[in-house]
Amino acid sequence: MVDNKLIEAAVEVQKRAYVPYSNYPVGAALITAEGDIFAGCNVENSSYGLTICAERNACVQAVAAGQDQFTAIAVVGDQDNPTPPCGACRQFLYEFNPDLKVHLIGREEIISYSLGELLPEAFGPENLQGV
Ligand code: THU
Repeated sequence: MVDNKLIEAAVEVQKRAYVPYSNYPVGAALITAEGDIFAGCNVENSSYGLTICAERNACVQAVAAGQDQFTAIAVVGDQDNPTPPCGACRQFLYEFNPDLKVHLIGREEIISYSLGELLPEAFGPENLQGV
């Protein structure tokens, strides 16, 4: 089950996506164990590779506010099919919670995964222990 507030936050922030190059707006919202929500949209750049995805934007908003105990993320795109997070975002989120619930919200369906399913055998903080 996805918290409706989480979906609403992702839908709301998607409206602020800066996407002059792809015209592919994405909104993402993270929820913490305490129920606080942090949202981010994709922000593109004329130097295309500098684009930040909605998921990483939401993540840095939360960390900048002092919160990194996320339990779930909702990702909203404009497509009928759900928008899956890119590989970079999967890795970025894995840092904070390998068991994060990932809800992909399409117009016609919602698909839910755990982050571990989307990024098996990931490299994470545990690999750096004792180095
Ligand atoms: N994008 C996201 O923000 N999140 C995703 O899950 C997939 C892709 C963005 C990056 C770029 O601004 C646009 O969507 C098209 O790739």
